Amino acid sequence: MKVKLSSRAKSVEPSATSGMTAKAEALRSKGKEVLSLSHGEPDFKTPDHICTAAKQAIDSGSYFSYPPTGGYLELRKAIAEKYVIEYNVGYRPENVVVSNGAKQAISNLMLTLLTEGDEVIVLAPYWVSYVAQIRIAGGNPVIVKGDLKNDFKVDPNHIERAINGKTRAIIFSSPSNPTGLVYSREELTQLSQLVSQYPDLLVIADEIYEHINYSKDRVCFASLPGMLDRTITVNGFSKGYAMTGWRVGYLCAPDQIASEIIKLQGHLSSSNCSISQQASIAALKHDLRCVNEMVSEYAKRRDLILSLLSGIEGIKVNKPLGAFYVFPDVSSYYGLQHPFKVENSKDMCEFLLAEAHVAVVPGISFGEDRCIRISYSVSEETLREAIRRIKLALKKLTEEATVQ
Ligand SMILES: Cc1ncc(COP(=O)(O)O)c(C=O)c1O
Repeated sequence: MKVKLSSRAKSVEPSATSGMTAKAEALRSKGKEVLSLSHGEPDFKTPDHICTAAKQAIDSGSYFSYPPTGGYLELRKAIAEKYVIEYNVGYRPENVVVSNGAKQAISNLMLTLLTEGDEVIVLAPYWVSYVAQIRIAGGNPVIVKGDLKNDFKVDPNHIERAINGKTRAIIFSSPSNPTGLVYSREELTQLSQLVSQYPDLLVIADEIYEHINYSKDRVCFASLPGMLDRTITVNGFSKGYAMTGWRVGYLCAPDQIASEIIKLQGHLSSSNCSISQQASIAALKHDLRCVNEMVSEYAKRRDLILSLLSGIEGIKVNKPLGAFYVFPDVSSYYGLQHPFKVENSKDMCEFLLAEAHVAVVPGISFGEDRCIRISYSVSEETLREAIRRIKLALKKLTEEATVQ
């Protein structure tokens, strides 16, 4: 029987990150030593005190039933307090909705905000799932691109040109996946001034890499003048606390949006895991030493990968100020053939996997085909070996290739 699939299901591509991971696994199963720089997650273990809190929650016998749909009040309170203390943003527990990762938070939001044909402006390069989630909700993503020359930052004038009567929101991440860019306070203020001119326009500020930020600018968009009611702040525990598998993310939104999302989530998934939520409370109540230790390790690796990449001819790269990715432009190699033609970022990733046994992710999945995304959330040794192999493979590509 041929199953008739929904237009919604057909409107999205499989996740590129998972695609590369699967290809790397297939090669590994053939006995090849594949180095994976395609992961979008910390390579550290969740800090001990967080794991201990989870074990205590199980042993207490008190957390076996469905938690409240929007999350335990204690967690929602701790999240709201964090914003009051760290950013002077007046969130209350009612503004917070805890979900199965920031991914579900964004997906809930799109389903809550968008009616068929509504538009969301996506600042590019963007995190892969934004576009898919907008489409699943029946909306249309409108891509506004930043350029490597300007650290991939998007010019507010270009954003303004994309605004029309159907525009519901602007979405971006800062620190950014995949470029590592961090918008400065001044740049975000400029964006907020633009937003103020359009009374119905919302901003979805994905601040999930909040802690992994090497710059002096640590700005919560909702804290900017007039932006509290216009912003939905997305965050979670996956990246900063090395808790990707625990699946705890959240958003903070104006009351009306938050309560609609809780209604929706009540039908879609209910609350997320009770034990993970207890672990997350412990994460927030502890100081940030464990997080800062991981961040200083990422900073060293960022410097290392930038210096290693600078030794490869034909690669252009911006200096990331946050997250754990670099997003080099490798397009100067396009058009070469060895053994098959490398014409775009997908071909480049296939080539690097086949020739160097290094897995990275095609930039096209993030809206920029000239680039590839390399995660430096790996050991220094793996990083050195992977970039050595990439350098050799690219040298071979240039020297032995036939130009098309
Ligand atoms: C920018 C960005 N937002 C959201 C997410 C989703 O995070 P999670 O669902 O693990 O909380 C990710 C994960 O890669 C991300 O990079």
